[in-house]
Amino acid sequence: MMRLDVVTIFPEYLEPLNVSLVGKARARGQLDVRIHDLREWTHDRHNTVDDTPYGGGPGMVMKPDPWGEALDSIIESGDGSEDASGDGGARPVLVVPTPSGKPFTQQLAVELSEKPWLVFTPARYEGIDRRVIEEYGDRLDVREVSIGDYVLAGGEAPVLVMVEAIARLLPGVLGNAESHRDDSFAPGAMADLLEGPVYTKPPQWRGRGIPDVLLSGHHGKIARWRRDEAFRRTVLNRPDLIRRADPAAFDKKDRET
Ligand code: ADE
Repeated sequence: MMRLDVVTIFPEYLEPLNVSLVGKARARGQLDVRIHDLREWTHDRHNTVDDTPYGGGPGMVMKPDPWGEALDSIIESGDGSEDASGDGGARPVLVVPTPSGKPFTQQLAVELSEKPWLVFTPARYEGIDRRVIEEYGDRLDVREVSIGDYVLAGGEAPVLVMVEAIARLLPGVLGNAESHRDDSFAPGAMADLLEGPVYTKPPQWRGRGIPDVLLSGHHGKIARWRRDEAFRRTVLNRPDLIRRADPAAFDKKDRET
């Protein structure tokens, strides 16, 4: 079973992890999620977790001491069951959400979904004292990760995003293993195109029908139509993906789009 630890000053922000896909995976014993309050590792009357930045400037920086104590205690709590190698050397991958990190991609979600143990450290304020990242970087696989080119008030929402992307890839979590085979961004998905439009009953809704080809029963034509729609949507919404793709993946009809 995969183990996930999250250290935060807002444990209630992670409550959505009790709901839906991730909540069900936990209830089924496919995922062991442990949420920790960083303030438990403070020792002053005000449970202080931040202080002013060296060198001046706006905002506050998270102090290294509570993070160090929290992470040491969590790492030491590993009982070896998180270690796929079985040598008792259980070590988590440390995932640090930050807008300054490397992009979180489907590829990284797949890679992290294969690890036995992840520890997330969502920060508030201007981030965590750099020495914490350096200290654990010497001992653990540390990944500083950004979920996109925008700045949020803290790393908790990015943790929700990443955990959902990772959890749905775990064996047995999605009912139908094929349902992520064609995901937009899945490795080898329709030549890296976005997914096209989908339809269900009723056949007429507010005067709008569905494309005839989907009723034709012709699997070859349906597959080609889906691929063409995926291509069209990718050209419109993500031309950068088309430029990055292998030209051999496209044919004459695509060039007319
Ligand atoms: N914290 C604040 N903004 C973030 C982002 N875009 N990605 C990850 N962590 C963040």
